[in-house]
Amino acid sequence: MAKRSTLEVLLIVVIQAAALVYFLQLHSRNIQQEPKPAQAHVLILSSWRSGSSFVGQLFSQHPDVFYLMEPAWHVWGTMHQNSAKVLHMAVRDLIRSVFQCDMSVFDAYIVKPRNKSAIFQWETSRALCSPPACTSFHRSDIISKYSCKTLCGRYPFGKVEEACKTYSHVVLKEVRFFNLRVLYPLLRDPSLNLKIIHLVRDPRAVFCSRENVAGDLARDSRIAVGHRSTSRDEEPYAVMREICKSHVAIYQEGSQALPRALQDRYLLVRYEDLTHYPLAKTAQLYQFAGLDFTPHLQAWVHNITHGKGLGIQTFDTGARNAMQVAQVWRKNLPYAKITRLQEVCKEAMELLGYKLVWSEEDQKNMTVDLLDVEQLLPKQDRKGGTTALSSASGS
Ligand SMILES: *[C@@H]1O[C@H](CO)[C@@H](O)[C@H](O)[C@H]1NC(C)=O
Ligand SMILES: *[C@@H]1O[C@H](CO)[C@@H](O)[C@H](O)[C@H]1NC(C)=O
Ligand SMILES: *[C@@H]1O[C@H](CO)[C@@H](O)[C@H](O)[C@H]1NC(C)=O
Repeated sequence: MAKRSTLEVLLIVVIQAAALVYFLQLHSRNIQQEPKPAQAHVLILSSWRSGSSFVGQLFSQHPDVFYLMEPAWHVWGTMHQNSAKVLHMAVRDLIRSVFQCDMSVFDAYIVKPRNKSAIFQWETSRALCSPPACTSFHRSDIISKYSCKTLCGRYPFGKVEEACKTYSHVVLKEVRFFNLRVLYPLLRDPSLNLKIIHLVRDPRAVFCSRENVAGDLARDSRIAVGHRSTSRDEEPYAVMREICKSHVAIYQEGSQALPRALQDRYLLVRYEDLTHYPLAKTAQLYQFAGLDFTPHLQAWVHNITHGKGLGIQTFDTGARNAMQVAQVWRKNLPYAKITRLQEVCKEAMELLGYKLVWSEEDQKNMTVDLLDVEQLLPKQDRKGGTTALSSASGS
């Protein structure tokens, strides 16, 4: 092949350089044009009876947070003939709209005329109990759901959207997702700034707690197992199988399968660690969400986890003596049920650091610790978490 003249080579270089400059300009303009989300979004992802109401309150009472508890309750209630899998997309779309403070999405689920109190568990949202949604309290008050319900019910529905738009953080708690994949589009959505807190609890404690409220959970249980017919005895295990499977999937997707750029959007939290170290763990959650842990909130968290001030009676979250409460299943659950459940949830328990019991003696002997510290949170918590934990162990 003939050698190119110096002039030709020079020309090519100049053209390539021009193309590069043009591309870079275009690219930076694109970046500039991309709308930056004005708000931060946090999804508390959990399952029933796993302490998510308590974690929800930790966020709801923060004066920078607009919080809603389980907004997808409306989706499942309206379309209860379907399976969880079929409803995933409708639930996701609802979550996306609520994060964007677009409450028109409830038109599909709540008939008019309606007011603020048509929203499921609205009174657990401090933001819906203070201005502009209700004038009976201040935004910085710690507000119990009972006093809120009494004083703040009769406000127009439009107040929900109006209030939402005045906060820097929108936090939703949801129990109706069974994998993380369905949420990838929200994690990539440039109009959202989404972080996910994955809250888990010992399946044996969950099982025990579910037995006490099986009637309340009946409809959700049917949807969770996709209306498969099972015997009465078998159904609780079928539900737990789905729940445990979902925690394995969410954990694996969140800690391994997410693209690198999205990996800092996922945080796993065990309810038991939160009850052991409430202040340190709350600090970690707030830091992850980009919220200040003010002295006032620190005093409140200390109070509610030590049975003072607005405590369990007000939030019925069982935070007081939470350590003992967390162990109730060891006294109450028959060993035969435990072994059956451990078979169903073995993978999740091993992954999340809940030790199996192999005898009734170990079950009842409270000095046998069933919480695996070493196995917990291989990536994220080894760095920040463990130091936070050890610094709190003295308090
Ligand atoms: C608004 O809420 C109150 C209290 O919850 C209820 O009694 C009333 O009927 C509601 N009004 C409308 C229009 O839905
Ligand atoms: C914590 O409890 C103390 C003692 O009951 C009370 O005086 C204080 O106001 C409480 N603080 C908060 C923030 O709940
Ligand atoms: C309870 O477990 C501890 C620690 O494994 C053991 O030392 C102790 O003997 C056990 N107590 C009983 C009553 O089995």
